[in-house]
Amino acid sequence: MKHFTRIADLGVSGAAEVLDAALAWKQRAPGAHLAGKLLGMVFFNPSLRTRASFEAAMLRGGGHAIVLEVGSGVWKLEDRTGVVMDGDRPEHIREAIPVLGRYVDALAVRTFGALQDDDTDAADPVINAFRELAGVPVISMESAREHPCQGLADLLTVREHFGATKKLAVTLTWAPHIKPLPKAVPHSFLLSAAAAGCEVRIAHPPGFDLHPAVLAEAQTYARQSGGSVTVNSNRRRALNGSHVVYAKAWGPATGEAVASAAAAPIAAHKDWLITNETLSGAAHDAIFLHCLPVRRNLEVADEVLDGARSRVIDEAENRFHVQRVLLHRLLNQ
Ligand code: CP
Repeated sequence: MKHFTRIADLGVSGAAEVLDAALAWKQRAPGAHLAGKLLGMVFFNPSLRTRASFEAAMLRGGGHAIVLEVGSGVWKLEDRTGVVMDGDRPEHIREAIPVLGRYVDALAVRTFGALQDDDTDAADPVINAFRELAGVPVISMESAREHPCQGLADLLTVREHFGATKKLAVTLTWAPHIKPLPKAVPHSFLLSAAAAGCEVRIAHPPGFDLHPAVLAEAQTYARQSGGSVTVNSNRRRALNGSHVVYAKAWGPATGEAVASAAAAPIAAHKDWLITNETLSGAAHDAIFLHCLPVRRNLEVADEVLDGARSRVIDEAENRFHVQRVLLHRLLNQ
């Protein structure tokens, strides 16, 4: 594995190996496995969990991390090709990326999509420029298309609770928000759950489809793993008997719809708020997941986040455990 910016970098068997290792390492700390290693962390967008868990993984492994927040004490970076750079971005990523690659042993990058056009976001131009130009391993801290460390942490949480994931019914349900959000997190949960052999059910209002290329990729993983993927606009039906309920807000499917739908999700679909009543059709032992941050009582009701089914804090902790394994593999090859 030269880079890790998408579940495809691991495939079905590789993803399972990382989860196996993360489960084992969660019980037994591996010591200074990253001694002398330096990670450069480049943030085009804010973070709490991702930043803290990557830094913690490097420091607890005996390594070090430097954090660069683009546009905040660091030059604003241009990423478009062929433009006249007469705006407010004085440096291009075509210089910045290889320069940073000369200083560190690996680069971690957070770069959200522009949310103007799903196809452009699915092509993931900025993270792919890092893969092309860094000269060192690149790991995603969420890009336009995927948030693969989150997806693996989600499945680690499921594995911990249920032991096995094959044929386990898991429902990914859309949730309301004040604005359209990226699709990287739902994409990665879908891909990770399909790779793990789950019976993945996706529920969203009409017009909020995930990217067709990601759905097709998930179907491929499901065929390899013995899982399945179905899409349903009837959430009650999708949730029926489900062992995992994963809630996430994301934006509408087409570029044109983003601007016009900026305020629409909450106004048109506030009945998609996740409450205890929503979960009543799930399995008796169902757990609730959300990647966080979450807007309480807009996306998910207090009673769910504070209730016995919620595993959102374990899920956030598991970011540390999967990233520790991934950093070890990328920095010791
Ligand atoms: N889940 C997640 O990526 O959290 P942050 O945006 O806080 O990093």
